[in-house]
Amino acid sequence: MLLNGRFGGNVTLAWLTGVILVGISLAEGLTGYFLVWDQQAQIIARELFRALDILPIFGEPLSRSLLSQSSMSNMLFFIMLFFHIMAAIGILVFVWLHVNRVARPRLAPPKPLLYATLILTALVSVVWPAKSNLQADLDAIPTQVNLDLFYLFWVPAQQIIGPVGALTLFGIGFLVVFTLPYWLRRRATPAPIVNLDFCNGCRQCYEDCPYDGIVMRPRTDGAPFAEEAVVKADGCARCGACVGACNSGAIEMDGLSLRTLQPAIEERIRALPSGGVRVLVLSCQASAGGQAGAIDGLAGVANITVPCIATVHPFLAEYGLLAGADGVLLVGCPAEGGVYRLGNQWMEQRLEGSRHPRLRSTSVWEVNPSEGNGIFTLGAGAGEIAALRALIREIASKSDPGKHEMRGTG
Ligand code: HEM
Ligand code: SF4
Ligand code: SF4
Repeated sequence: MLLNGRFGGNVTLAWLTGVILVGISLAEGLTGYFLVWDQQAQIIARELFRALDILPIFGEPLSRSLLSQSSMSNMLFFIMLFFHIMAAIGILVFVWLHVNRVARPRLAPPKPLLYATLILTALVSVVWPAKSNLQADLDAIPTQVNLDLFYLFWVPAQQIIGPVGALTLFGIGFLVVFTLPYWLRRRATPAPIVNLDFCNGCRQCYEDCPYDGIVMRPRTDGAPFAEEAVVKADGCARCGACVGACNSGAIEMDGLSLRTLQPAIEERIRALPSGGVRVLVLSCQASAGGQAGAIDGLAGVANITVPCIATVHPFLAEYGLLAGADGVLLVGCPAEGGVYRLGNQWMEQRLEGSRHPRLRSTSVWEVNPSEGNGIFTLGAGAGEIAALRALIREIASKSDPGKHEMRGTG
């Protein structure tokens, strides 16, 4: 997420609640280990109360309750149990908040990953069982304790630098990570605009928005349609998927729309030298094709970069062929880990015809009947430029130059 810059703007809430979720998960582990009341719990209690005692919260220092076995109150366990249960509930509440502005969140991992994790976890717990240490005894100093450093990494740190140092260090670390969206904010691209003259309220932009960027509301302009699309700038990631979703070309984002991309494609293809193979590449800006110089030096190739591959309406791929390209290549993010979550999925489904707007396959097959429809796709991240160049060369080597000279587009 950091590398992709996906932590500010419309996903600020996801970022902030994500950081809080890490804190609550640590609290869940810590209180759980406390309840076991073994020698590890004894160390946790001592270090936790040392840290809490320097905060002006409690009248009596909490560490006093650990002076001897007889001064230990059962109330402490009820309090820890309470926080343990609250942390579990807190995780549910914060996960809900976390994905609140993400459309169709994938809450369950893919099945193979789920089963592999379950099997591995079962195996690891058999091979290295998490055993309790010796029972806690406040009248003795704990010996030979195995600390779980995943949840308790702060304990050795606090033992070395003291509670004031540890609280300052972790407090500053937390604040820096929590406020990262603020420090690393960038100038926002303008949000998309809906031109109501062309919007018929079909809802496809709303269906395709991967976040919370579009709402449908009752028509306000008297046009004979039930609804109209409205962009919510603060819920919008500026991915452009709505631009590619709109059959009517009603949505424009930062100068990109069906209406502006169409002439841009024609112009770029016409500018390529005639007589040789011409390949049009439409690239997501985070993909291999969006990197500076990615396809420099490849003759006969025009590359147009868009925010996400879902910005491309399938008609534009078809139009590339109609405008004279011998092959059109759509380059998105790698299959897993798309910057805007659903871009690749929407592109594939539009091209195979299972999602609106669909590629008008009949007209494309007319253009290029012998060797498939002339439209290719690739999922390639910023580091996969070599794979992209290899595919472009392959497309060029299989194509007959000039086969699709401008037809039927005026
Ligand atoms: C208990 C820990 C966490 C859980 C269960 C969790 C769960 C999720 C889920 C289910 C999604 C939606 C993913 C999708 O459908 O594409 C998501 C998105 C997100 N998460 Fe988390 N997350 C956790 C921790 C974090 C942390 C620590 C951060 C960062 C500080 C974070 C930041 C984000 C962001 C920014 C998104 C939106 C990503 C995008 O741009 O599409 N999450 N999270
Ligand atoms: S996809 Fe286009 S026509 Fe359909 S609701 Fe959205 S803006 Fe309107
Ligand atoms: S650009 Fe469009 S599809 Fe993307 S988040 Fe914004 S409103 Fe949604």
